[in-house]
Amino acid sequence: MTKDTNKANANESEIASHWREEELIYPSDEFANQANINDKNIKSNFTIDKFPECFKQYSDLITWDKEWDQILDSSNPPFYNWFVGGKLNASYNCVDRHLSDYADKAAIIWVSEQENEPDRVITYSELFVKVNEFATLLKEFCGLKPGDRVTLHMPMIPELPITMLACARLGVIHSQVFGGFSGTACGDRIIDSESNILITADSYNRNGKLLDHKVKADEAVEQASSNGTDVEKVLIWQRYPNKYSSSSPMIQGRDYSVNELLESYEGKTTPPESMSSDSPLFLMYTSGTTAKPKGIQHSTGGYLSYAAATSKYYQDIHPDDIYWCFADIGWITGHSYIVYGPLSIGATSVMYEGVPTFPDAGRPWRIAERLGVNIFHTAPTTIRMLRKAGPDEPAKYNYNFKHMTTVGEPIEPEVWRWYYEVVGRGKAVIVDTYWQTETGGFIGATLPGTEPMKPGSCGPGTLGIFPVILDENGNVIEPGSGSAGNICISNPWPGRMQTIWKDPERFINTYFKKYAKPESKDWRDWPYVTGDGATQSSDGYFRIVGRLDDVINVAGHRLGTKELESAALTVPSIGEAAAVPAIDDLKGRVPEMYVSLKPGYEKQTTIENDVKQAIATNIGPIARPAHVWVTTDLPKTSSGKIMRRVIASISNFVEVGDTTTLSNPEVVDKIKQQVQSAKIELNQVPKDIPQEIIDEIKRFGEDN
Ligand code: PRX
Repeated sequence: MTKDTNKANANESEIASHWREEELIYPSDEFANQANINDKNIKSNFTIDKFPECFKQYSDLITWDKEWDQILDSSNPPFYNWFVGGKLNASYNCVDRHLSDYADKAAIIWVSEQENEPDRVITYSELFVKVNEFATLLKEFCGLKPGDRVTLHMPMIPELPITMLACARLGVIHSQVFGGFSGTACGDRIIDSESNILITADSYNRNGKLLDHKVKADEAVEQASSNGTDVEKVLIWQRYPNKYSSSSPMIQGRDYSVNELLESYEGKTTPPESMSSDSPLFLMYTSGTTAKPKGIQHSTGGYLSYAAATSKYYQDIHPDDIYWCFADIGWITGHSYIVYGPLSIGATSVMYEGVPTFPDAGRPWRIAERLGVNIFHTAPTTIRMLRKAGPDEPAKYNYNFKHMTTVGEPIEPEVWRWYYEVVGRGKAVIVDTYWQTETGGFIGATLPGTEPMKPGSCGPGTLGIFPVILDENGNVIEPGSGSAGNICISNPWPGRMQTIWKDPERFINTYFKKYAKPESKDWRDWPYVTGDGATQSSDGYFRIVGRLDDVINVAGHRLGTKELESAALTVPSIGEAAAVPAIDDLKGRVPEMYVSLKPGYEKQTTIENDVKQAIATNIGPIARPAHVWVTTDLPKTSSGKIMRRVIASISNFVEVGDTTTLSNPEVVDKIKQQVQSAKIELNQVPKDIPQEIIDEIKRFGEDN
C-alpha cells in the first residue's frame, strides 16, 4: 500500500458518526440488590495500576490442582501466559467439583426442536458419568492423549458438551466446527488442525426437518484425505439412540456408532489430566481476510477463569437461576456461555436444538415459561426475527426474565427497545456484550447491577479491559469527539487467544502489526486490534459500528470475503468474483456476489445457482448469497485490485464516491444500471440507511 492510499484510508476510517445519543436506563433496585456485583466501586479494584493482579479474582473462581506462581508472563509480547505454573483440568472444574453441592442439580436441560419430544435433563452426577464414559472410550478405543486434536462437527444435542468435556478431561484439544457448515469446510479444519478423529452425529432437527448430518462426515473425510490428512475413525452419535438416522452407509473399519461402543464403557471413569494453565483447551476456526480460516487457540487456565468470571459477573448467574443462552455451541458464544462459563460455576444451562420460530414465533417464550428461565441470552438477528414474526407473542406467556443479553452484532436502538419493553417487560436488564472469537469472553459490556444501559451501545470495557480507539496513525480518538476509529484493547487479559494455531506470524500480523512497536518487550506497545470500527461517547460508552476488514457479519456470524470468493471460483466458468455486504432487515448483512466469466464462456441461465450452490457446498447454507450478479467486468484499480467499496455502494444504493483511481470507470454505470434496476423491480431498495452504515459501506474492503 502506498503512502497516498494510506492517507486516503485515514480519512475514510475516521468517519464522523451521526447517531443521536440515547438515554441511559438504570437497572431496577430489585435487580441491583440481588446482583453478584452490586458494589458501585468495584471498578476501583480493576484500574490499570491494579493490572494484572486484579485478575486474581477471576482465577479464584477456579479449582487449581496446583496454584499458579506468576499471574502474567508478558516477557514475549504478544504471546502471554496467564497464571503461570498453575495446573488444572477444565472438565474437573465444570463437572467433578460440583458433585459435593450440586450432584442432583440439572447441569444441562436440553430442549428438542420437536415440541412433543421430552426434554433431556442431565444432572451434574449424570454428566459426570457420561463425560467419564466417553473420555474413557476416547482414551482406550481411540488412543487419544493430551495435546492431540480432535475435530467435532456436531449439532445442538447434549452429546456435544459431553464430547467437549470428555476431550478436556483428557487434555485433548477439541475443534468444534459449526454443525451447519458443509463437509468440505469441516474437512479444511480437519487438515489445519491435523485431527485423525472426527466426532459427529447422524442427524438433527432443523426447522421441522430431520437433516442427514452423517453424509457431511463422508465429504469431510474425503476433503481431508485429498489433502493428505487421513481420518482414522469417525465416531457417530445417534440423534435418536438405538436408531441410525442417516441414509449414508457406515463405512466398516472407519465409522463407529458411539452409542454402541459405549456399551463396553458403562460406569468406567478416567481421572482428569492435570494440565498446565497455558495448555490449549480448544481451537475455534473463524474467518479472516484470507480464504484460509484461522484456528483461534484458547488456553485452559486463562480462558476458563475468564469464562467463569464473566458468566458470574456479567451474566449474573446465581445457583438457583435457569439460564438459557440461545446460541449454537459451534460458535464461540456457545463455548463460553453455554458450556464452559455456566458449567464452571455450577449453573443450569439450557440448550435448544432448533430455530427460534419453529413451529411459531411463540416457541422461545413457551420454553422460557415452561422451564422457568430467568436469564435469556441471544443475538440481534434472533431478536429481529422474533420481533418481525411475532411482535405480540411475548405478552402471551408467563415467563419472568431478570436479565437478557444481546451479542454478536450491533443492535439497532429500536430493536433494543422492543427487547427491553416487550420481551423484558421493562423490568429485565439488558447487557449488550461486545466480544469476538479471539477474545474468549466479553470485552465491552455494562455490569448489570451497577452500570446503566444505553440502547445500541455495549457500554465501557469490562473489568480489567482497557479499550482505546485509535486513528490510522495510532493517535487516540478522544471520547465524545464524534469520530469513529479502530477499537483496540490496550492490555492483555486472561481470556484472550494465545495464538493462531500453527501460525504465530499471522497472529502478529492480524492483531498487532498495525500499531505495535515490534522491538518493544512492553505489553503497552502491543495494543490488540479488534478489526472493528467504534465510537466512544463522552460518558465512556462504546458503540461498535462494524468490521473494518473484509469480513461480513451475517446474522452474527463472520464470513470472509475471500472465503466466499474462492468458493465461487470453484465454478469452472467463473473468472473473477467479489463478495460485498448488502443490508438486510433481519440478518444485519447478507453477502452478494459479483462475478465475471472467463474468456470463451457464455452466460448460462444456471450460473447464479451454480455460484450459490458452490458457496453452500464449500462453506455452508449460512453463506448462501442473496444475489449473484454476473457482470462483464468488475471495477478495478490500476494494480488490478477489485474495488469492493464501489460494488458494495451499488448493492446498497449508496453514492459510489470517487472512481478516479479505477482503471475501468466505465463499468460502474453499467453495473449500477444492471443491479439497481433488478433490485427496484424486486422491491429491494433499502430505506433510511443510517449514516454510520452508509460510511461502513463506502469504505468496505479498503482497509488492506
Ligand atoms: O464485529 C464485532 C461483532 O462480531 C464480531 C465478532 O464475531 P465472532 O468472532 O463471530 O463472535 C461473535 C460472538 C462474540 C466483532 O468483531 N460483534 C460482537 N458482539 C457485538 C458485535 N458488534 C456490535 N455489538 C456487539 N455486542
